[in-house]
Amino acid sequence: MEKTDKKKIEEFIRVDHAGERGAIKIYEGQLLALSTIVNNENLKKTIKDMKKHEEEHCNFFESEIKKRDIKPTKLLPLWDLLGLGLGFGSTILGKKAAMLCTASVEEVIDDHYKNQIDQIGMDEKILKNNIIKFREDELHHKDIAYNEGATKQGFYSIMDKVIKTGSKLAIKISEKV
Ligand SMILES: [Fe+2]
Ligand SMILES: [Fe+2]
Repeated sequence: MEKTDKKKIEEFIRVDHAGERGAIKIYEGQLLALSTIVNNENLKKTIKDMKKHEEEHCNFFESEIKKRDIKPTKLLPLWDLLGLGLGFGSTILGKKAAMLCTASVEEVIDDHYKNQIDQIGMDEKILKNNIIKFREDELHHKDIAYNEGATKQGFYSIMDKVIKTGSKLAIKISEKV
């Protein structure tokens, strides 16, 4: 297979780093709500477990950023804030909304990672294999979210669309800026 375009690889790593960090922030926002106004120890445990995976994912991209001397997105502070707000806000709405938040984001990330995997050649085997593994983790998170009560009925369908649109927009911007 031909060599994967270097600029493309840099965009992939930049956006994935921002996304995984955003995922950590969403879970931090959710855990903040669960340590203050919402009481649900089981949900807290589920979220903590998923957050651990996001930390692994984020650490990988963080080290790639350093190794390859890639500029992280300038909007990290904004994504941090929005991630925290989304996590906190969804969780005070209740467990269904908190879990839908995970399901909606993971559905966007599933497509996003699949699209990257298709474009990365074997000259970037380690990167490719890591993204394949991370995508499997995200699909697992999505399954957990549906098992824990995520739904797209009624009001939640609107929430799903808003989260998906926002996530896709954040992806587009973070690839470039
Ligand atoms: Fe992740
Ligand atoms: Fe995830």
